[in-house]
Amino acid sequence: MATLMVFDHPLIQHKVSMLRDKRTTSKEFRDLVKEVGLLMGYEITRNLPLKEVTIETPICKTKAEVLEGPDIAIIPILRAGLGFVDGILELVPNAKVGHVGLYRDPETHEAIEYYCKLPEDIDKRRIIVTDPMLATGGSAVAAIDLIKEKGGKDICAMFLIAAPEGIAELTKAHPDVDIYIAAKDECLNENAYIVPGLGDAGDRLFGTK
Ligand code: PRP
Ligand code: URA
Repeated sequence: MATLMVFDHPLIQHKVSMLRDKRTTSKEFRDLVKEVGLLMGYEITRNLPLKEVTIETPICKTKAEVLEGPDIAIIPILRAGLGFVDGILELVPNAKVGHVGLYRDPETHEAIEYYCKLPEDIDKRRIIVTDPMLATGGSAVAAIDLIKEKGGKDICAMFLIAAPEGIAELTKAHPDVDIYIAAKDECLNENAYIVPGLGDAGDRLFGTK
């Protein structure tokens, strides 16, 4: 059964409140999403396995622990998922980055695929799917369907803000995928936007509206 973890760290909560504020500019929004990506990434990687090796310090030989693998793949859901990538890459600079392009049809709110390029060895990597918003869950479910079709197995997903509807949908479709969020909001409105949410994450990140 999937884990749902809400990161209630005060720094994350403070930054999410700034992201919600409609006066926050695109530049500030991008910087904040990157910072929250790094803070959430730090928690998400907490259980990466370690192995023991022998190294030599300037003083003597000693046993030390280093990451054992599997290697990581970050897969942002375009466009808005891109906002998290740089923050996570600061923690795991050798991670590979795949891309899944999806947009919500404005009428039906269904996720439409327009791009998919994943690392060749995706089946061997620990995968972190990134998107700031989990609204109906349609985009996340479609992205993870696609990643699994291409061989991905070890998958978790991180979002800034999730609606209860999206959490239920993603958990039902992919019970093996752990979900990490910074906030669980109240509901969706008639346009399937999260309430209170932060508006359209892609437009706010890239200044397109
Ligand atoms: C937004 C958001 C998610 C999706 C969430 O993307 O970044 O991908 O909507 O909604 P859902 O859970 O109901 O599918 P959007 O389709 O607006 O595309 P964009 O990132 O290119 O702006
Ligand atoms: N996509 C967004 O960017 N925001 C929402 O609230 C819902 C979907």
